[in-house]
Amino acid sequence: MKDFLIAPSILAADFARLGEEVDNVLAAGADIVHFDVMDNHYVPNLTIGPMVCKALRNHGVTADIDVHLMVKPVDRLIGDFIEAGASYITFHPQGSEHIDRSLQMIRDGGCKSGLVFNPATPLDDLKYVMDKVDMILLMSVNPGFGGQKFIPATLDKLREARRLIDESGYDIRLEIDGGVSEKNIAECAAAGADTFVAGSAIFGKPDYKAVIDQMRAELAG
Ligand code: DX5
Ligand code: ZN
Repeated sequence: MKDFLIAPSILAADFARLGEEVDNVLAAGADIVHFDVMDNHYVPNLTIGPMVCKALRNHGVTADIDVHLMVKPVDRLIGDFIEAGASYITFHPQGSEHIDRSLQMIRDGGCKSGLVFNPATPLDDLKYVMDKVDMILLMSVNPGFGGQKFIPATLDKLREARRLIDESGYDIRLEIDGGVSEKNIAECAAAGADTFVAGSAIFGKPDYKAVIDQMRAELAG
């Protein structure tokens, strides 16, 4: 059953103890680390950059780091995150003047690439770049903050994205981000998601392992 990846968003972690928080959530069974980058321009919040990604690598984190760029413009930060040890780099098409080039930069740097779609953004930009994405990330909240409520229309969009992936024949992960918890993770999986970002649902609880175990139990059906 593996192939479902649980990706805790460190946006909801205690930043004063970030290394320890990441160690703890990985020890609790998380698969990859979701790393939210916000620039107070593309989204109305300001978070962390490449130095913090590098610091996690220096701390000894070997798990994949899934960098979600909510920034505009994206290109210069792509290079910085490649240097800093990112594994996946995903960005919003609105943040790039030349989507194909930005995706290519990510792959040329040895990272896995992806496009992110806001709740009201159609999937049209995927049409000519399906061969250049390793991940499609659907936002189930408007980007900028953790702890928001899951937007149910995303379930239909997941089904649409799943169909596009299956028809393409490419090996592309389908990630869902925003308001995901043990309560709706099974529904997201049934709609086609295979990679689940959860911030407050995991870091907001005292026992990370209990939540992650419960998520896996929901996924196992
Ligand atoms: C929102 C971020 C999310 C956020 C999810 O813009 O992209 O990754 O941390 O947080 P929760 O799971 O609390 O909705
Ligand atoms: Zn995110």
